[in-house]
Amino acid sequence: METTSTSLKAHVEVMGRIVELPLVVGTEQEVAIDGQQLRSETGAILLDPGFGNTGACMSKITFIDGERGILRYRGYPIEELASGAGFLEVASLLIHGELPNEAEFAAFEDEVRHHTMLHENYRRFFDALPMDAHPMPTCAAAIGALSTFYQGDLARDDVRTHVIRLIAKMPTIVAYSYKHSIGQPPVYPRNDLGYAANFLHMMFSTPCEPYRVDSVKARALERLLILHADHEQNCSTSTVRLVGSSNANLYASIAAGISALWGPLHGGANQEVIEMLTRIEAEGGDADAYVARARQRGDSTRLMGFGHRVYKNFDPRAVLLKHSCSELRDTMDVRSSRLLDIAFRLEEIALEDDYFIRRRLYPNVDFYSGILYLMLGIPVNLFTAMFALGRMPGWIAHWLEMKQDPSTRIGRPRQIYVGPTKRPYLPRPERS
Ligand code: ACO
Repeated sequence: METTSTSLKAHVEVMGRIVELPLVVGTEQEVAIDGQQLRSETGAILLDPGFGNTGACMSKITFIDGERGILRYRGYPIEELASGAGFLEVASLLIHGELPNEAEFAAFEDEVRHHTMLHENYRRFFDALPMDAHPMPTCAAAIGALSTFYQGDLARDDVRTHVIRLIAKMPTIVAYSYKHSIGQPPVYPRNDLGYAANFLHMMFSTPCEPYRVDSVKARALERLLILHADHEQNCSTSTVRLVGSSNANLYASIAAGISALWGPLHGGANQEVIEMLTRIEAEGGDADAYVARARQRGDSTRLMGFGHRVYKNFDPRAVLLKHSCSELRDTMDVRSSRLLDIAFRLEEIALEDDYFIRRRLYPNVDFYSGILYLMLGIPVNLFTAMFALGRMPGWIAHWLEMKQDPSTRIGRPRQIYVGPTKRPYLPRPERS
């Protein structure tokens, strides 16, 4: 992948030896020290737990400026995509690099529409799971298992078809996992509906009566999916790249990404936010007391949906979602509306609180997304699977970029060993 070449160098002194390392500058003037020769030149490695200072790759997909609250997919501001584009258009942009023209979009959409069904044997796959199975491990297993239906194609390396299948079948898998959990029969996709509308149809229609998709809700869902579609080298995307770097197939890599997303510090936070708001409501709605606990040292309570490794002033996705919540307030049920009031109050208190100000903690994408999911009728334990549905094109785009980059090597961090030094083995009877 090309970079802006620069004559600037970094000079690093390691135990008296000074080495010169090249600097790499991205198209948005981000600077990195190219440390690829660091170990061979000095014998030292860079220790960076959490990778907060480590660039794992160069990427052309998404740009984030956490200081200025900027998020762009392939150069396009998230605000413009969220208001003007549809989810499949954004998926095509992320995967192919450019916004599709009319003909390209029609071809992409048509392909996705015609791959939405799951193999009938999948019914048995869902039937094998307990009714209260959490949708995230269900989705991870289902995506991993999807590859078993296409083993021949995998060997033929027909990546484009796999990409289409994953985008097309993920809504069906998420909806099937929900239907299974409530004991209803799975609903087949309807290819005459748009991506989000078809998902709502598979979630909420039954064979017993007609169901009409609410277009306001379908549009709100498209917007949510767009805002989740990519976020550069986050935990789950890095997982997808790392797994893919071993030449594991696309399905296996994405299944691993879904598992990484499930964690409460990552995508699982959207479920935690609603559980937090519900708890505050049940305890009398005292937002001040909760914020006080979250800032208490020694209390592990966190204000879920607050804070971000990269955004240090605001998360533009949270701003857009807060706006959506206000816009859709009239269509909200009483519960969502009450939780929204608590969320507004929490945000107000936290943004004026010295603890949160000093640590630069602001609402992230998960703070308001759950309230919108509730409004759409999505059950709380499905929230993170909704995040996975939106993130699918981003994971795919990163996996493809990683595969096409000739500089990709198998991901293999090093470590500094701090365990016992060499000691002799003693047979069991001789140990004290
Ligand atoms: N509530 C209270 N305190 C917090 C919070 C929070 N939500 N987030 C961070 N802090 C505090 C930490 O305790 C720490 O304080 P200290 O310096 O006194 O020890 C300081 O702020 C820095 O926090 P770190 O955990 O070191 O920051 P990091 O960048 O590693 O973590 C993370 C970012 C995981 C998002 C964190 O802010 C957090 O746990 N937030 C809540 C969970 C959440 O909303 N996750 C979703 C993130 S968005 C996404 O993944 C889609």
